[in-house]
Amino acid sequence: MIEKYTNRILQGDCLELFKKIPDNSVDMTFADPPFNLKKKYTSCADSLEFQEYLNWCEKWIYEMVRVTKPTGSIFLHNLPKWLTYYATYLNKFANFKHWIAWDAPTAPMGKSLQPSHYGILFYTKDIKGAKIYELRYPHKRDRKQGFLWKDYGGKKDLLHPFGPLVSDVWTDIHRIKHNTKRDQHPCQLPIHLMDRLILMTTDENDIVFDPFSGTGTTAISAKRLGRKYIGIEIDTKYVEISEKKLKNTKQNFKVGDTWVSFYLKDIVTIRNNDWNNLEKYFIIPNPLRSIDYQRVKLKDKKIIPNENGFSLENDEFDKINGEDLKISIGSLEEKVY
Ligand SMILES: C[S@@+](CC[C@H](N)C(=O)[O-])C[C@H]1O[C@@H](n2cnc3c(N)ncnc32)[C@H](O)[C@@H]1O
Repeated sequence: MIEKYTNRILQGDCLELFKKIPDNSVDMTFADPPFNLKKKYTSCADSLEFQEYLNWCEKWIYEMVRVTKPTGSIFLHNLPKWLTYYATYLNKFANFKHWIAWDAPTAPMGKSLQPSHYGILFYTKDIKGAKIYELRYPHKRDRKQGFLWKDYGGKKDLLHPFGPLVSDVWTDIHRIKHNTKRDQHPCQLPIHLMDRLILMTTDENDIVFDPFSGTGTTAISAKRLGRKYIGIEIDTKYVEISEKKLKNTKQNFKVGDTWVSFYLKDIVTIRNNDWNNLEKYFIIPNPLRSIDYQRVKLKDKKIIPNENGFSLENDEFDKINGEDLKISIGSLEEKVY
């Protein structure tokens, strides 16, 4: 029954279309709804009264939990203000796991406590048995010098070569700001944000569901990671853009048999358990403590898939482009990758 809807972006109002989706049928649900900020969407008002907005949210949140399998996870992306109400509601019938703070720096506006992060609420449907995988991301480095951001003192030999475990504060994924790098949509999410959530809570062929699909970010991420997807989007134009992009998307975010998140010609998120399979594809600094100024490096860049068909380049991504960055260490000139 659910197969009828998988690998499709359904056009229409999510509250109507949710009725077609059976209970306990998808592995992960993610919602990035309109934030009620008067954004210029073409097919929906983004300025409801306070209680009206919350009442509407509760309806689709209820549906998200209903369609999620007992082993599944539910993610809600919004401003902290709205998430406090979402959490109060969800706590009644789902299981709180984490509040992920996604750092989204704003320009100085002459005011303290400007919102500088979005929240992603992470719930599981049941208390026990949910699929959750540990993730790693590359070590954060100084942009200019390439040294590790954190001072690990004498413990550098104990560091994981790829990078630390992902915490609940995400500072390495930037919003897409430039119009040239995005679809014609007011608030498209960076795709590697979705890669991270999908790698964390689903396996190959699992079904990922997004009731506010926009221009298809979740669906594309799911497809290229070998998952199935269902999207709902009210706006026909956004559905068209999504379908075009999905047609150009391949199931190729893989190294050997292992699904990974690539971004800007690099691997940016892996599962901790996969490192054993992935290690052989990397040149690892030796001795390990030289990781202080040297990254792990892919042995063969040809294994990086072409991210065609959608907004790729985001020069705000906080990474060092190793092709042109050099640092001097004593007399030794090291190319930092
Ligand atoms: C914040 S955007 C999602 C953006 C998406 N995450 C992306 O990266 O492209 C919210 C989307 O929900 C859609 N939308 C608003 N009300 C809807 C409804 N009742 N049913 C389905 N989609 C709706 C809007 O058209 C908009 O594209």
